[in-house]
Amino acid sequence: MKVVHTVEELRDQLRGQLRIAFVPTMGNLHDGHLALMAMAHQHGDPVVASIFVNRLQFGPNEDFDKYPRTLADDIAKLQAQNKVYVLFAPNEQELYPEPQNYRVQPPQDLGDILEGEFRPGFFVGVTTVVLKLFSCVQPRVAVFGKKDYQQLMIVRNMCRQFALPTEIVPHETVRDADGLALSSRNRYLSEAERREAPRLYRLLQQVRERLHRGEADVARIEHDAQRELTAAGWKVDYLSVRRQRDLKAPTHDEVVARLPLVVLAAAKLGTTRLIDNLEI
Ligand code: PAF
Repeated sequence: MKVVHTVEELRDQLRGQLRIAFVPTMGNLHDGHLALMAMAHQHGDPVVASIFVNRLQFGPNEDFDKYPRTLADDIAKLQAQNKVYVLFAPNEQELYPEPQNYRVQPPQDLGDILEGEFRPGFFVGVTTVVLKLFSCVQPRVAVFGKKDYQQLMIVRNMCRQFALPTEIVPHETVRDADGLALSSRNRYLSEAERREAPRLYRLLQQVRERLHRGEADVARIEHDAQRELTAAGWKVDYLSVRRQRDLKAPTHDEVVARLPLVVLAAAKLGTTRLIDNLEI
């Protein structure tokens, strides 16, 4: 695996390649990321990964400074897996040359709800960096995890809007044996919090079961799940059932008609904010 830090070196490595499969990451790689690399390997050749902790998608009170930066370990993991041909690990100056103010603004109805409501500016940061990374790597396919469900939708939407020649391939959320979705932020959890954390996924499963059983009072189902999380010490940002196609709230008739839905949640356990979702 070649590790490159500049766009010029990246271009040299990828010259003439037409079937590039790309996995953008912020590093601190875990098995979830490695599963994305494996999927990329099935969809194209060569596989390119990137590691870049993107300041633009962190709010002023978020964890940009303490976000784990583990480049040497990440390189070792990718080398052991042997699926990635080039790792692109640029610095800030390389991706955000000064002076610059260009931003990609997702549409409000998709970018300002759910995560966007609680993390203003987050999706502008994501789409801006993903467009830059796509323009550096020029992938034919890019793999994104479903754990960041809204991000996946917004990136796919951006590709359509800008007619980018990149197909977005989703990967199922990778979970620990107890159901907790793998995330670099899980490492912030204390032992007690780690034992508590799988409750989030259990509750999403309960929401899905109730809907599968034919209950149609979505507000009540959401309320019950939120109440249980709060009673267990979580601070809930949202736990909400939405339509899969556009993340809008479903009407009663749509729930009864079993339109494809997804339940999405974000909640804080201590100081750690976890997100998860489940398709219904
Ligand atoms: O999902 C992530 O790790 C990041 O949001 C991404 C897509 C790498 C952009 O910084």
